[in-house]
Amino acid sequence: MILGICGSGRKEGNTGAIVEEVLKGTESETELVWLIDLNVGYCTGCMRCASEGNCWQKDGMTDLYKKIIDCEAIVIGSPGYYGDVSGLVKSMMDRSIALGYMGIGKESKTPMHGRKPLAGKPAAIVSTVAGHGFERPLETMERFVSYGEMKLVGKLGAVVGMQDVRELKNVVDEASKLGAKIKEALREKFK
Ligand SMILES: Cc1cc2nc3c(=O)[nH]c(=O)nc-3n(C[C@H](O)[C@H](O)[C@H](O)COP(=O)(O)O)c2cc1C
Repeated sequence: MILGICGSGRKEGNTGAIVEEVLKGTESETELVWLIDLNVGYCTGCMRCASEGNCWQKDGMTDLYKKIIDCEAIVIGSPGYYGDVSGLVKSMMDRSIALGYMGIGKESKTPMHGRKPLAGKPAAIVSTVAGHGFERPLETMERFVSYGEMKLVGKLGAVVGMQDVRELKNVVDEASKLGAKIKEALREKFK
């Protein structure tokens, strides 16, 4: 399953439309998760995950951890908010620090340096903005991808103005091509 994670609260909005187009382009089994539906609490920075092997918070992230680990590839989308990712995406990324410690528990010999359970997983990142500045949201998500040692397949930033992104054929085409690249990356990985 290829997992899409959308960090916009607008289900008819631009970011979700682009994530959906990328997922469609993979021609694979996909699932789109809307962070707005999940009730994801903030990372408190307690680092209990590093000693306990799990996050103490039981909320929308609990199921999402499993989906992130189990999926074959991941597509993350964020609207640009004040030049960076949305709070929903930031919280999801922050909480994902626990992924590196899951299953390590108290036996961990390297408690401050978790595992990289997402290593090698193909990932794509997309961001839409009204006017300008999709670079930083992409950079922030790229940092998350690279920390997890995932394989960045591609990124897509789109300036949509007041339009509906579905009307911007070049952006839709690019999203679809990005999906095809994920499919190709998976073929390479599993051949
Ligand atoms: C809180 C907030 C901050 C925003 N900041 C920016 C910004 O810095 N630059 C910009 O071009 N658009 C900004 N926008 C506009 C959105 O990035 C843009 O409309 C985006 O396509 C919305 O995605 P969505 O339709 O998926 O919700 C902002 C919107 C909101 C709600």
